Amino acid sequence: MSSTILVTGATGNVGRHVTSQLAEAGLEVRALVRDPERARLPERVEVVRGDLTAPETLEPALKDVESVFLLWPAFTADGAAEVVAAVARHARRVVYLSANVADEPEMHYHEVERLIRNSGLGWTFLRPGGFAANTLMWAGQIRDGVVRWPYGRAARSLIHEKDIAAVAVHVLTSAGHKGATYVLSGPELLTQEEQVRVIGEAVGREVRWEELPVEVAREELLAAWGDAAFVDSALSGWARFVTAPEEVTGTVERLLGRPALTLGQWARDHASDFG
Ligand SMILES: NC(=O)c1ccc[n+]([C@@H]2O[C@H](COP(=O)([O-])OP(=O)(O)OC[C@H]3O[C@@H](n4cnc5c(N)ncnc54)[C@H](OP(=O)(O)O)[C@@H]3O)[C@@H](O)[C@H]2O)c1
Repeated sequence: MSSTILVTGATGNVGRHVTSQLAEAGLEVRALVRDPERARLPERVEVVRGDLTAPETLEPALKDVESVFLLWPAFTADGAAEVVAAVARHARRVVYLSANVADEPEMHYHEVERLIRNSGLGWTFLRPGGFAANTLMWAGQIRDGVVRWPYGRAARSLIHEKDIAAVAVHVLTSAGHKGATYVLSGPELLTQEEQVRVIGEAVGREVRWEELPVEVAREELLAAWGDAAFVDSALSGWARFVTAPEEVTGTVERLLGRPALTLGQWARDHASDFG
């Protein structure tokens, strides 16, 4: 029987680590990528072209797979039913990179989880909160020594992408996770202002926070990101984390037997992004 594991999003923050950690463990790992020329994955990883928005392109990647690490790359669940059905025709198990959005029923993660629950696949859901990698949006401002941003008191428990990947690999390579939903976080709660200070210290730069009025931030983010709905959802998320900080869960430590990595460790791993 095949033991091949297909990793989607294999060139992304989390999937790149899932792929390399599985390969290092000596497992048969196949990476789904849209552009094999640009994938730059470890040599012993089988790289197969496919696009999650075009389910008919997934057949070669799904051939003889046992498990799939699945992320859904869009902001709506349109097209996810066909992809989940294709996965279910081939694989026995899926580990889905969802999100900790229990308070946001409108988000597509719920629909993708529902499709997977009804698919007949054995499933495990990973629901991380905010990624430490989201702070890369400040890289230019950190280099310049001042971060001008709204909601300095919004507190999050940012998680290192390596920890999400390590949990995914643990789930893919050990028994007892079928039907489990793991809410994942980093080890500590930090306000955005504190996050900037921690990153500055880790990369050896003095950085100060300058609170930006929300209306000014909205105009600037709209100019930078283009999508008004996305900007408003980010702003309301930060507003919420001022009064209701993100939760800190001990799930990474419980599953991996070591503490979750700190934001300082993440920033040292990414020092060149801020250099
Ligand atoms: N950021 C957060 O705070 C947060 C929190 C919770 C959950 N999440 C979820 O985590 C996931 C993002 O993970 P990430 O940060 O590791 O990813 P990422 O760095 O944003 O990279 C996206 C990956 O998806 C691939 N991809 C994009 N469109 C695709 C398509 N049509 N078909 C096949 N592959 C496609 C990209 O491959 P290419 O090389 O082809 O571009 C890339 O490997 C998202 O589902 C997000 O909603 C994020």
